[in-house]
Amino acid sequence: MSETTITVCNTCRRVAAGAPETEAPWPGERMAEALAAVDLPEGVRLREASCFSACSRGCVVALSGGTDHWTYVLGNLDPAADAARVVTAAVAYGKSADGVVPWNEAPAILRTRTITRVPPQE
Ligand code: FES
Repeated sequence: MSETTITVCNTCRRVAAGAPETEAPWPGERMAEALAAVDLPEGVRLREASCFSACSRGCVVALSGGTDHWTYVLGNLDPAADAARVVTAAVAYGKSADGVVPWNEAPAILRTRTITRVPPQE
């Protein structure tokens, strides 16, 4: 299993692509807190970043695994329901050779919430 990074947008203002919220704590902050509360398996790390320019699809996270791996961007996430599912997706991602998780092995959240998949740099 390769090292997998979950990067969470901590400035998203929408939950599951609903209307933007107008008061902090922002959904992105709540998503970051929910992910930080999950006991991450070995080989999975969490980091935060601000705005992936997918604001209308918030909450948003990315799964990455190095320059030879595809990167997935997932959206329409709910901090209250999806943190553990994102970690499950990260584990499946980490088991893949190049970041592409076969469809029949992909957790539902990867099949239903992927906004885009970006090719490796190398
Ligand atoms: S604020 Fe989260 S993608 Fe823009």
